Amino acid sequence: MSKSKFENPPAAAESETREPESTLGTKRGRKRKRKGNGQADAEVIEENAKKGTGKSIKFDEPTQHVEAPIEKPEEPTPKLKTIPGPKPQVEPKSQPQQTPHESAKGPKKDKPDHGQRPNEKQRKKNLESRGPPPSRNSHVPPHLVKKRDELLQTRQTLPIWPHADPIRERLRKNNILVLTGETGSGKSTQVPQFLISEPWCTKTIAITQPRRVAAISLARRVAEEMGSYFGNQSPAAKVGYSVRFDNATGPSTKVKFLTEGMLLQEVLRDPDMNQYSAVVVDEVHERSVNVDLILGFLRNLVAEIEKGSSRRKQPLKVVIMSATADVEGLVNFFAEGFAKNSGQPALPEADKFISKCFVEGRQYPVKTHYLPQPSMDWVESALKIIFQIHYKEPLPGDILVFLTGQDKIEGLEKLVNDYAEGMDKEMPKLLALPLFAALPQQAQQRIFQPTPRHTRKVILATNIAETSVTVPGVQFVIDCGKSKIKQFRSRLGLESLLAKSVSKSAAIQRKGRAGREAPGQCYRLYTEADYKTLEERTTPEILRCDLVQAILTMKARGVNDVLNFPFLDKPPVESLKEALFQLLRLGALKADGTISDMGLQMAKLPVTPKLGRILLEAARPEKDCLLDVIDIISALSTEDSIFFNVVTEEKKEAAEEARRDLYRREGDHLTFLATVQQYADEETDRRAWCDRHFVSHRAMQNVMNIRKQLRQQCQSLKLLTPADLSKESSSSSPNTDAILTSLLRGFVSNTARLAPDGSYKTFVGNHTVSVHPSSVLHGRKVKSEAIVFSEFLYTNKAYAKKVSAVQMNWVEDVMKEAFGI
Ligand SMILES: Nc1ncnc2c1ncn2[C@@H]1O[C@H](COP(=O)(O)OP(=O)(O)OP(=O)(O)O)[C@@H](O)[C@H]1O
Ligand SMILES: [Mg+2]
Repeated sequence: MSKSKFENPPAAAESETREPESTLGTKRGRKRKRKGNGQADAEVIEENAKKGTGKSIKFDEPTQHVEAPIEKPEEPTPKLKTIPGPKPQVEPKSQPQQTPHESAKGPKKDKPDHGQRPNEKQRKKNLESRGPPPSRNSHVPPHLVKKRDELLQTRQTLPIWPHADPIRERLRKNNILVLTGETGSGKSTQVPQFLISEPWCTKTIAITQPRRVAAISLARRVAEEMGSYFGNQSPAAKVGYSVRFDNATGPSTKVKFLTEGMLLQEVLRDPDMNQYSAVVVDEVHERSVNVDLILGFLRNLVAEIEKGSSRRKQPLKVVIMSATADVEGLVNFFAEGFAKNSGQPALPEADKFISKCFVEGRQYPVKTHYLPQPSMDWVESALKIIFQIHYKEPLPGDILVFLTGQDKIEGLEKLVNDYAEGMDKEMPKLLALPLFAALPQQAQQRIFQPTPRHTRKVILATNIAETSVTVPGVQFVIDCGKSKIKQFRSRLGLESLLAKSVSKSAAIQRKGRAGREAPGQCYRLYTEADYKTLEERTTPEILRCDLVQAILTMKARGVNDVLNFPFLDKPPVESLKEALFQLLRLGALKADGTISDMGLQMAKLPVTPKLGRILLEAARPEKDCLLDVIDIISALSTEDSIFFNVVTEEKKEAAEEARRDLYRREGDHLTFLATVQQYADEETDRRAWCDRHFVSHRAMQNVMNIRKQLRQQCQSLKLLTPADLSKESSSSSPNTDAILTSLLRGFVSNTARLAPDGSYKTFVGNHTVSVHPSSVLHGRKVKSEAIVFSEFLYTNKAYAKKVSAVQMNWVEDVMKEAFGI
């Protein structure tokens, strides 16, 4: 068994690439600066010992700001010839219902001229035909109407506004539109509103987003612009969102922002997308695996509808949008789909089926500054520029800094806070706000709250704020030029996050987060020459990731021949095969490669295939521990840690003591179970309970929410009955053997045995792994003969995280079942 190939262990939660720590304020750092080595960022920051505990920064004269910033002409944007739409049709206008308000307000006079904009006459026509305003009926409270009317003025100044009619016309002519327009031109917020009152739009419009933070914030904004309630505030809400474990839509939802993953889930239940009149695939340049699958499914569906071979008879309108997309590639991709269906050659047909539109101009300019020389330490450079902006630029004007990951963000947050303490008391305050994927949703939403008076917000973000989002108040962007990207290293058989240079497309997107409400500035912490060497586009995720989830989705959607699926970029055959084998081992596929009943159920669960397999295993009558396993999986699925990470020895001891009644000798998974159940049983004061146990209350609220949704999902898949739910799961002691063997079934590749030298060696591949220090099993004198782990982390060495002790014969049994050996 040990000879077999090392399979994919679970994705690394965070793989740290070792980068030099910030030398700012340290002796080493200052020494380097004094040497005058010409670093743009190595000159003026000094610790001011006289100012008490706070640190302060001394600056050069403002003229030396960022060493003679080079102003960069706008990046080349794809210059597309806009295909003229059809001659105005005799088709009904979009029910023009002009409000007195609209006709009174013309476009702003000081609006920049955006070249290709339609003339003033056209513009007026567009204003008239922008579709019906929200009804002024009594259901809409006055404050929503007021807000909508205020925002209408801003909307009218957006570069996309005069394109409303051409966009509508193109979509009446063709079912597919590839729409590009500069960042901030109004694509995501306006396009759904342009389409909502079209004659063909009888159902909902879906708009996909790569990330939930964008989906939620866009939905909120569009609801405000439409003068509607939002999400599930009211059954009358016209705008909603759906992200994993949070569905905020209602019976009146007409515009639904959703993550790509959620749309894929829906496609499984409804392959013809019957609930939608249009699907807008936004930010397509990000090229996540999910977006590539969506494009493949949509290509097949629209071509089948066109040909009349689909069950769906109504057209489905598809809009593909981005500021930095490869338009020709997308057009050719869809054209090929039509050609395949009709047996005609691909390209001459393209214009017949696919429209293009390019919106030129952005609302406000953004000035770009580069470093004159490469930075040795961009955390230090970012810190310096934050304070330069703060000292030099008047309020308002918040700062958005792009960094690689949580570690760098927390490091810079601390530095900003330390140095801010040393500022003159009259200076405006600095409010540092982190933003990364593992932060709970409520904490992420803090960046959208208004900046307090006499304060400047400094948002320290990963690339999750890179596309789509408008963070109100942001005028300055600082871009470190790097991001962590998922990389599947097939030789090692593991997926990890590696810090790499961003692509030009990502740099343009980052810059585009400024200049949305006022003119902006973007500081790139690299040289202009370095910018020129960047790749044009980020490599699509499908070419560098583990494909297990993607293949399961395809199989469940009825795509049996995955090797011939219409991929925009075809992944390596090796990766596809590896994913197929994994699914076979999980029992998701039958020996002939078709999906099993179990696989179908796994695909419908909103968790990874491994976790899905565990849930199904736990539901089997001989195991009968589903409720307990749901509790554990909820704890594993929350994005932030349940247990506070205590640093000092003293605190560690106190935490150990406080959590003594939660810790289980079997390991972390049963410890999570005990924690969730005790928290759930706590009826008086859950927050106080968390404080007493050094447990994060926020994380636990999140766990409870996930638990609720997983229970519902399991009920809808008939894995649980209402009678099961009424049973008090925590009153009886858990069946630990059943729970651990269920976990093993999903994590069959994440197992290791004790070697004679006291280390653990993985069953598959014979790699050495150490139990992570955060595990309750860490440092145990008596080690168990085998372990199962749900996370794999590679830093300076390989760690098993979230670990449980298991019996050797259990592992052998699941190996037999999975591998047939
Ligand atoms: N939450 C918000 N707060 C304030 N202004 C907003 C907000 N959302 C959007 N806007 C305004 O609407 C404009 C258009 O935003 P939208 O997201 O539609 O642009 P976009 O073309 O999709 O940009 P991107 O390519 O960056 O996604 C912004 O430039 C900004 O002026
Ligand atoms: Mg957008």
